[in-house]
Amino acid sequence: MSELHQRPPGFLYNSGRKTRELLCERVPLAQLAKRFGTPLYVYSAGMVRERVKAFQQAFAAQDHAICYSVKANSNLSILKLLASLGCGFDVVSGGELQRVARVGRSATKTVVFSGVGKTVAEMEAALKAGILLFNLESASELDSIARTAGRLKKNARVAMRVNPDVPADTHPYISTGLHKHKFGVPIGQARELYEKIATAKYLQAAGVSVHIGSQIRDFSSFNAAMERVAELVRQLRQAGHDIRYVDAGGGMGINYRDGSDDFASLAAEYAAAVTGPLRGLGLQLLLEPGRAIVGPAGVLLTRVVYRKTNGDKKFVIVDAAMNDLIRPSLYQAQHQIVPVSSTSAGAETVDVVGPICESGDFFARDRQLPVTAEGDLLAILDAGAYGMVLASNYNTRPRPAEILVSGKSAKVIRKRETTTDLMRGER
Ligand code: LLP
Repeated sequence: MSELHQRPPGFLYNSGRKTRELLCERVPLAQLAKRFGTPLYVYSAGMVRERVKAFQQAFAAQDHAICYSVKANSNLSILKLLASLGCGFDVVSGGELQRVARVGRSATKTVVFSGVGKTVAEMEAALKAGILLFNLESASELDSIARTAGRLKKNARVAMRVNPDVPADTHPYISTGLHKHKFGVPIGQARELYEKIATAKYLQAAGVSVHIGSQIRDFSSFNAAMERVAELVRQLRQAGHDIRYVDAGGGMGINYRDGSDDFASLAAEYAAAVTGPLRGLGLQLLLEPGRAIVGPAGVLLTRVVYRKTNGDKKFVIVDAAMNDLIRPSLYQAQHQIVPVSSTSAGAETVDVVGPICESGDFFARDRQLPVTAEGDLLAILDAGAYGMVLASNYNTRPRPAEILVSGKSAKVIRKRETTTDLMRGER
C-alpha cells in the first residue's frame, strides 16, 4: 500500500507475504475488531505524543503554551495524555471545563475559554476554577463577565477575540475570520472595548485572541491575521494596557488525502507564519490546535455488512454510519478508506454507505477502492479529530467504543454504548 494509505507512525501495514495487515502501533486492527466489535474508534498514543512534540519543537524559539482544543477529541484519557505532555486546554463550554477538571487538580489553571455564548453559570464555574484567560467575543459578554466577576469578587484575565476580516481557504462552515461570521469583535472596535475592560475592577486586559477557522492549509492567512493582531497589540500597549498574551487560536489543517506529509516541517512553516509578526513583542503565545494533534492519530474501524448493485452503481454497506462520523455528510470531507487486510485483489468504483435511512449517509461516493467482500474490515482514516465528539444516537444507534493503543497495549477508554444507556432518562 502506498503512503497515501498509511499514517505513520500510528497506522502502518506490516509486511506479510501474501496479505498485509494494518496495525495500530504494534496491535493488528483485526484483533481489536474481534475483541471489541465494530464500529470502533482506535487511537494511537504514540502518534499523539509525536505530534505534540513536533508542534512544541516548531515553536521552540517563541515563548508559548499549547492549549489543546478539547472539542476535537474530548475523551478523558486523551486529555490526560495531553496534560502529561505539558499541554493546557482550550474549552468552549462548562462541560468541557468539567472534563479538564477531571484530568488533574491544577489542569484548569491552564485553560482558555472561547465561544460566543458563554452563560453566567459557565463564567462562574470558570472564575472559581481560576482559568488562565477568558476570550470574550462581544460587548455584551464583556458586561456579563464584569458583573459576574464583581459579584464573586474573583479576578479574571481577559482577551477580546478579534475578527480580523481575513479570508481562509476552507469549508464555509468552519471559516470564522470574516465580518460576516458570528465570531469575535471587528478588530477596529477592539480599542474601545479594552478601554471598557480597564474600568472594570475585577478584569485585567491581559491578551488579544484570534481564530480564523479550521482545516486551513494555506498558512499565509494565519500570517495576515497575526500582522493585524500585532498591530493592535502595539496600539493597546501604547494606550497603557498590559498585554502579555496573544492567543493565535487553532486551525492548522491536515492532509486527508495523503499520509506522507512531514508534520515536523509543516509545523515549522506554520510556526513561522504565526510568530513572524510577533517578533520583538515579548509576548507569550497561546496556541489552540485540535485537529493537527489528534486527527491523523485515530481511525474508525468498520465491517462490511452487505454489498449491493443498483443499476450501474455498486454499494458497500458498512456497519458504521453518519451518526458515528458525520464529517463526509456535513463538510463533504474525503476521508481515505483502506482495507484492514489487503490482498492484491483488483479495484472497483463504489459508494461506501452506512445503514441509516438517508441518502446523506455515506463515507465515500464513486471512490476507487480495493475489492472488498462481505465481512471484511475497513479503516476510515484521520478520524481522531471531530469524529467521536460529533457522534450522535440517530436511528437509536449506540455510539462506538474508543480504544487507545500504546505499543502492544490496547485499552478501552470509552465503553460501547448500549441501547439501555440510550433510553435511560426517558419515560
Ligand atoms: N480554537 C477555536 C476558538 C476554535 O473554534 C477551534 C475550532 C479550534 C481552536 C481548533 O481548531 P483546529 O485546530 O482543530 O482546526 N467540526 C469541524 C471543525 C470545527 C472547528 C471548530 N473550531 C470539522 O470536523 O472539520
